Amino acid sequence: MQIQENISLKQLNTFGIEAKARRFAVFSDTDELEELLATEAGQPTLILGGGSNILLTKDVDGLVLKNEIKGIEELHEDADYVYVKAGAGENWHEFVQYCLKRNWAGLENLSLIPGLVGASPMQNIGAYGVEIAELFWGLEAFHLQEKKVLTFSLSDCEFGYRESVFKRKYKGQFVILNVTYRLRKKPVFHTGYGAIQQELEKMGVKDLSIQAISQAVINIRSSKLPDPKVTGNAGSFFKNPEIQPLQYDLLKEKFPEAIAYSLVNGNYKLAAGWLIEQCGWKGFREGDAGVHPKQALVLVNYGHASGRDIYDLSEKILLSVKEKFDVELEREVNIL
Ligand code: FAD
Ligand code: EPU
Repeated sequence: MQIQENISLKQLNTFGIEAKARRFAVFSDTDELEELLATEAGQPTLILGGGSNILLTKDVDGLVLKNEIKGIEELHEDADYVYVKAGAGENWHEFVQYCLKRNWAGLENLSLIPGLVGASPMQNIGAYGVEIAELFWGLEAFHLQEKKVLTFSLSDCEFGYRESVFKRKYKGQFVILNVTYRLRKKPVFHTGYGAIQQELEKMGVKDLSIQAISQAVINIRSSKLPDPKVTGNAGSFFKNPEIQPLQYDLLKEKFPEAIAYSLVNGNYKLAAGWLIEQCGWKGFREGDAGVHPKQALVLVNYGHASGRDIYDLSEKILLSVKEKFDVELEREVNIL
């Protein structure tokens, strides 16, 4: 729980960007967090989880606090559900596997997402047709100004597509300490996302199970997303943009092959990966900053790119998509 100085964050962000923290400490419970805050003047500059959704564009001139709160606890169960609380410092994928082993259903489509449990509500992580908002029950978070622990229910979090109150109106105000998920005793399978069905068939699965879905998701993800241990990245760099029907009609007229999904609110979500690919960026590389050859939505660090190199590349991509399609991309990754 000691505060260290001038610590390299290279191993602590999946982009593998070299940047230093002027001060750095790890905490493994709320008391340690409070003690650290009491010894330091001011607020922490960054609460760090697994570093898989950040881009460091400069050194962090302040205090970085790494969350290592552990522990998984079955709180209670009723006829249909199990309520499971996990410390914010638990590894997300290991937590998913812990639940799968006990046949607690719901998180299987979210297998292999990097990072820690504490960040899962930050942007309402989602993949393959499921978002955590569908399983979320509550969380406890430490208010940095008021120095007390508050409880958040599902409605308090105001989850949206890659959004929550923690990313917007309460940005930088809370440290998430633990998260409780409500998981099903009887599974509801989500295999609607095209590639899952295909993968299950390829795997020769006869009796569908949450374990089989998890494995299918792992296989798909491993085949097209770069492994951060090999090539630095933070997953999708941009969000898939939402556009209104009028803009959708205009776009489809000019680009009939554009990939879009209709939303319940009448709007459309465009596949940003397609937009970026059409602008010629897929597989692009300049120095060590690049665009993944199998997924244009993923920007990569081939070794020694700086955060600024990646950011500048993202700016060029954003401008070219705006110019060609008149669509504004929004960054999903947190820029620091
Ligand atoms: P970090 O990167 O450490 O932090 C992210 C943000 O949350 C920062 O602003 C940080 O300050 C804040 N934060 C973290 N922990 C806390 C806490 N305890 N309290 C308060 N604030 C906190 N995301 C998806 O949604 N779906 C995907 O399919 C997906 N695929 C990915 C694939 C790859 C290969 C990679 C590298 C990333 C992918 N991501 C995906 C993004 C990323 O894995 C998630 O956003 C993940 O939840 C980030 O967790 P983390 O612990 O690494 O957060
Ligand atoms: N596509 C292209 N070219 C590309 C990439 C994609 O044409 O280079 C097309 C695909 O062919 C497909 C469509 O775009 O028709 C969607 O692609 P994909 O299924 O790979 O998903 P995505 O929309 O690119 C989103 C999430 C991912 C999540 C996957 C699976 C966002 C911003 N990204 O990607 O999340 O894993 O769906 O559900 O919503 C992340 O948030 O970091 C992340 C990886």
